[in-house]
Amino acid sequence: MIIKVAASILSLDYSDITIINQAVMRVSNADFIHFDVMDGKFVKDKTFDSDFVKSVNTGVIKKDVHLMTKQPEKLADKFIDAGAAMISFHAEAAKSPKKLIEKIKSKGVLAGIAVSPATPIKKIEKLLDDIDFVLVMTVKPGKPGQKLIEATIKKIKSLTKKKPDLIIEVDGGINADTAHEVIEAGADILVAGSYIFNSQDPKIAVDILRNS
Ligand code: DX5
Ligand code: ZN
Repeated sequence: MIIKVAASILSLDYSDITIINQAVMRVSNADFIHFDVMDGKFVKDKTFDSDFVKSVNTGVIKKDVHLMTKQPEKLADKFIDAGAAMISFHAEAAKSPKKLIEKIKSKGVLAGIAVSPATPIKKIEKLLDDIDFVLVMTVKPGKPGQKLIEATIKKIKSLTKKKPDLIIEVDGGINADTAHEVIEAGADILVAGSYIFNSQDPKIAVDILRNS
């Protein structure tokens, strides 16, 4: 199983594009740069918009956009235009998750549903045949640097059992200590911010996660 790594910039000072572009250069071996878009409504915090995502120069590294917003259907086009290779949104925030999945896919972008720790798999069961990937949140949506909630591991396991071919992205509290158990549970893509960018050598941190 080849594990992919998405480096999240949430823990960095994203008010300064130079800092972000320099950080991206330090993780040239990552598969994705993960962008946590928050609108101050779906979650309390507010982060950045599609113009920001567009302005980040990720070179050949793909952009992975995680929408933690209300009405994601109103934003998807803008993030596709900003260069997203994959977009996930929270089903409970969308008017018609099915329609939005179809729309994202029709533009050649991978479509995923993000599942908060409080949301049971049952709630997204009907969408499992339509999506390209599922993003299992292993912390509460909002802040970087939280501790992985152990109970979410079960969710990864049950998704793996239900749909062995579905790509599972795991997001929150991933580090050298927790990566192994999420991979064992069936994770394919690991999102990590604090662990990677707090490391002295972010590139080595990416490799450590990939090989956990
Ligand atoms: C949390 C975000 C995560 C966050 C992960 O709301 O969805 O993507 O950036 O950050 P760390 O790796 O610090 O838990
Ligand atoms: Zn995220």
